[in-house]
Amino acid sequence: MAGSGRAGTAGGAGGAGQVGRAGRAGWVSRAAGRLPRRTIRLRLTLLYGVLFLVSGAALLALTNLLVATNLPMQLRVISGSAAPGQLPPSMSALQTQAGQQRGVALGDLQVQSGIALAIMTVLSIGLGWVVAGRVLRPLRTITAAAQHTSASNLHERLALTGPDDELKELADTFDAFLARLEGAFDAQRQFVANASHELRTPLARQRTLIEVALADPQRSVASLHAACGRALAASEQQERLIDALLTLAHTQRGLRARVPIDLGAITREVLQARRDDAERAGVTLREDLGAAPSAGDPRLAERLAANLVGNAIRHNVPGGWVRASTQISAGRAVLTVANSGPAVPPEQVTRLFEPFQRLGENRVGSEGGTGLGLSIVKAVAAAHDAWVHARAMPGGGLEVRVHFPAAAATAAVPVAGSRMLPGSGDGVQAGHLAG
Ligand SMILES: Nc1ncnc2c1ncn2[C@@H]1O[C@H](COP(=O)(O)OP(=O)(O)OP(=O)(O)O)[C@@H](O)[C@H]1O
Ligand SMILES: [Mg+2]
Repeated sequence: MAGSGRAGTAGGAGGAGQVGRAGRAGWVSRAAGRLPRRTIRLRLTLLYGVLFLVSGAALLALTNLLVATNLPMQLRVISGSAAPGQLPPSMSALQTQAGQQRGVALGDLQVQSGIALAIMTVLSIGLGWVVAGRVLRPLRTITAAAQHTSASNLHERLALTGPDDELKELADTFDAFLARLEGAFDAQRQFVANASHELRTPLARQRTLIEVALADPQRSVASLHAACGRALAASEQQERLIDALLTLAHTQRGLRARVPIDLGAITREVLQARRDDAERAGVTLREDLGAAPSAGDPRLAERLAANLVGNAIRHNVPGGWVRASTQISAGRAVLTVANSGPAVPPEQVTRLFEPFQRLGENRVGSEGGTGLGLSIVKAVAAAHDAWVHARAMPGGGLEVRVHFPAAAATAAVPVAGSRMLPGSGDGVQAGHLAG
């Protein structure tokens, strides 16, 4: 089985190194009076050898038996004056000799075939060692690749070629694993870069504000007071961002304990707390909150509901509406928050659930938002084994539905009419329904 890509280096140098090490280790342990390491190669070789010995011995035994059966015990008269089956008296000495000769011939046959069997067994053990080594070469390639894999060479692949057998399947699985790992590392790097950028923006603003205020020759207590106020607002933005980052990190670690929660009661409290914000934004709040019992962390569930309701109010239009509902549907406790607002392109919906992703731009806070609200929603949902479905509303705005396991539910029940996107790797199936 040939290999390319990483196999070229890892399989060649690494694989050879592996064999060399294994070989040396074998000799060292033998020199130290211990048994050699029971590698698969050694076991396969011994298995081939034993199988050959057993089948060879059986074959030779059968051959010897057939020869012994077919070789006549006595001289027989085939033609001549004597009656068939009877020998003339002069022939009885010959008869004795023929019997002895037969015994010698059978003995020779047994000895020679025994020697041949021993030679062929040794040969088959040697051949078995070579063949086992060849068959197991892809395994050594994969082992070497796994040993040399680090954050810096995650882009390399085994790309094993050859027959579509179990070893190729293993190599393909390893490649797929590397691809997933690479994706996770990339996302992590991107996250760190974005978070640094987001943290630097308010810091830079704060510094500029203070520098400008201090450098102003006309500065007064009032102007310094105003500058301090703006610097304070920038530091509050930083605080919100750090708080959101901590919540995200904390949530991604999963839940420590679950207690009974009611999404209906939680959402009612959240709506109550946001009534003033909605009034200021000129947005009408509508609610249809039935009991939706589930189990989880009440603080995180409240954060999820608050983020969704907050978004629905903030990313809306004056005179718009927000509708929040909770219910039990298809064996799940479902929280739905929908709102009017500017048009959301349906293909952008899934992206909005990634950290620091906003509509129409990739980074840098809009309207003071941290860009982590929906990522926290996704992480909280994942921690609760909940699904998140989002869809762009046909007239503008967004609808987000979170399906928690119902308190008494034991199995997940798919929701009719929903289109699930592939799992996002953290347990959430963030998807969107066609608008
Ligand atoms: N209900 C909604 N309606 C329309 N657009 C939305 C809605 N919710 C989120 N968005 C869009 O998705 C983006 C990401 O939302 P997210 O909640 O993650 O961050 P944010 O609201 O900008 O900041 P914050 O972290 O402070 O909530 C928003 O900037 C907005 O463009
Ligand atoms: Mg938000």
